[in-house]
Amino acid sequence: MKVISLNGKTGYELIDSGDMMKLESFGGVIVERPSGSAVWRRRAPELWSSPVARFIRHSSRGGQWEALSPEKIPGKWVFSAGVFQMELQMTDFGHVGVFPEQAENWDWIHHKSSSIGGDARVLNLFAYTGASSLAAACGGASVCHVDASKKSVDWGRMNLGYGGQESLKIRWIVDDVRKFLRREARRGNTYHGIILDPPTFGRGSSGQLWKIEKDLVEVMEEVLAVLEPGSQSFVLLTCNTAGMTPVCLENMVMPIVTARGGSLSSGEMLLHESEKSGLPCRNLPAGSWVRWETR
Ligand SMILES: C[S@@+](CC[C@H](N)C(=O)[O-])C[C@H]1O[C@@H](n2cnc3c(N)ncnc32)[C@H](O)[C@@H]1O
Repeated sequence: MKVISLNGKTGYELIDSGDMMKLESFGGVIVERPSGSAVWRRRAPELWSSPVARFIRHSSRGGQWEALSPEKIPGKWVFSAGVFQMELQMTDFGHVGVFPEQAENWDWIHHKSSSIGGDARVLNLFAYTGASSLAAACGGASVCHVDASKKSVDWGRMNLGYGGQESLKIRWIVDDVRKFLRREARRGNTYHGIILDPPTFGRGSSGQLWKIEKDLVEVMEEVLAVLEPGSQSFVLLTCNTAGMTPVCLENMVMPIVTARGGSLSSGEMLLHESEKSGLPCRNLPAGSWVRWETR
């Protein structure tokens, strides 16, 4: 496998965006992918000369990679996200195994987990390949990672094989989020930190249909039931669903404020175009976040 040595904090660069596409480098592997937010023009067409592959979307369910420099496409490669490392590969959904728009949230998760201290328990729901699980575990937390896709959970577990991460405390669970939360509440298990990144549509581990607009309200009520009371705690809710603005997400988390006090902050997840001499650096919106924390 190709291992790339990385410069910079995350090994990620948004080189340019525009004409409904984004051009990104993941540890030096440059790819071109669709972006529904990139409704403006590209900064400079000459920046787009070197992608190794372009993802062509056929439907909301998938698409295919067009190889532009087949000899330069690594099967798998290792990506550094600052404090942790992950294995990346090109998937049929146009993903590569990490969502770089979460980078500022990883810093926050890492900081919150380490400030809670030794016995911090963090629950990562809709956890995919585990970037946020790694951020929490690197901050010293014992993490419970839950996703309905066995393939994603196996990928997450494999990420522990890089950068001396074998000793991190992460429990890997393939389950439907709602089923898991109900079981944890029945058992009286609680967590200091809860992270959720729900998709617009999805399937639970036994095919249960997930629709964010119908199911998220109930999940947030169940989250309250497993949130450790009376101590330092935090909740991070993010999503990339049209219409789910930061204010919508704040309203979803409001029952936690009502029950526990604490404070909310929210904003857009943004990818920042990198510095190129003489060109403006724009932000590409990539979803919304809300953070709740005890004061
Ligand atoms: C947007 S991705 C999460 C990205 C992840 N938080 C990250 O930053 O790397 C959504 C994930 O939710 C999972 N999922 C969808 N429906 C689910 C359900 N009902 N229960 C558990 N996981 C589900 C999918 O398998 C997918 O991995």
